[in-house]
Amino acid sequence: MHILIVNGPNLNRLGTREVEIYGTTTLPDIESRLKKKFPDHEFEFYQSNSEGAIIDVLQHAAGGAFDGVIINPGAYAHYSYAIRDALSALRVPVVEVHLTNVHAREKFRHVSVTASACKGVIVGFGPMSYELAVRFLVER
Ligand code: DQA
Repeated sequence: MHILIVNGPNLNRLGTREVEIYGTTTLPDIESRLKKKFPDHEFEFYQSNSEGAIIDVLQHAAGGAFDGVIINPGAYAHYSYAIRDALSALRVPVVEVHLTNVHAREKFRHVSVTASACKGVIVGFGPMSYELAVRFLVER
């Protein structure tokens, strides 16, 4: 499978950002672990702090270049209808992931407007959230 993994705002700061909440694992660490764990699959990793740039990448993915998409929209999950619409237009399965258990955090994080455009959501398992999402995509 060819899987696109999209990360939204502030996730480029993983490893140094609020380590008591997000831990010390960096985004490149997550990427290399996935490549090691799933050597038979191809990954494309993308991170942006901009809503429009994320939408551009999702529109490109709607062209059929990928077999599945994993997205951690970061805070955009809580309010970006534009990213939600871009996800809805995809014809391949999409899994939303969050490192932290957003339901155990501030109230504004309990809502995900993007989740309803996804096949499923995995929250709270740290970097393993990404691995579980890949497992779903490859084993389904
Ligand atoms: C996050 C949760 C969001 O609420 C937050 O804005 C993030 C990270 C997570 O992976 O736990 O940036 O998406």
